[in-house]
Amino acid sequence: IAPVITVDGPSGAGKGTLCKAMAESLQWHLLDSGAIYRVLALAALHHQVDIESEEALVPMAAHLDVRFLSVEGEVQVILEGEEVTGEIRTQEVSNTASRVAAFPRVREALLRRQRAFREEPGLIADGRDMGTVVFPDAPVKIFLDASPEERAHRRMLQLQEKGFDVNFDRLLSETKERDDRDRNRAIAPLVPAADALLLDSTSMSIEQVIEKALDYARQ
Ligand code: CDP
Repeated sequence: IAPVITVDGPSGAGKGTLCKAMAESLQWHLLDSGAIYRVLALAALHHQVDIESEEALVPMAAHLDVRFLSVEGEVQVILEGEEVTGEIRTQEVSNTASRVAAFPRVREALLRRQRAFREEPGLIADGRDMGTVVFPDAPVKIFLDASPEERAHRRMLQLQEKGFDVNFDRLLSETKERDDRDRNRAIAPLVPAADALLLDSTSMSIEQVIEKALDYARQ
């Protein structure tokens, strides 16, 4: 089977940028598992499915009609034939995603779909539980972290670049709230795998993070 490099960590640690750079450098496939939870959240909001009801969410997760298209090096996210690349990044969807992601049977229903991304020549898997649950046998695991303030700050710049109007304090409290939910849930909590390399990116540039991770992966 194809090799996998897992990259887990909290929101805003820089996983997305790191994974994209690694996938480009190695010419490997990329799994943005967070996007799957985000699409599920958006589908639930669109179809007015009760996001507190695991019962209602499980069949949605199992039959989720999502596709990832690579267009000129950028990934487009398609839900039920409609492009939702920007829509899945709003604060409402972020918060809903971390709520639906706390249901064990919802996670279970998405496992096979995520594992299917493992194809030759290899996969970079971005998420919260890539190294612990989805690909526990991955030969290379990285856990990328940074302080909550630094992560909220990065998220603010990212959202501003996309034209969203954001308030730092609100972003910081939502970042912390979402982290708490991800870290403390009963299933697949956000924790480093025992065999993961821990990287704290708080005072590192993205270039330094990429270099460290690639050096480690090549060992
Ligand atoms: O972009 P950001 O890092 O803020 O979030 P994301 O990676 O897109 O994930 C959105 C939410 O989905 C997270 O807050 C998690 O609750 C959930 N998630 C998860 O539970 N497991 C994953 N493997 C990926 C995301």
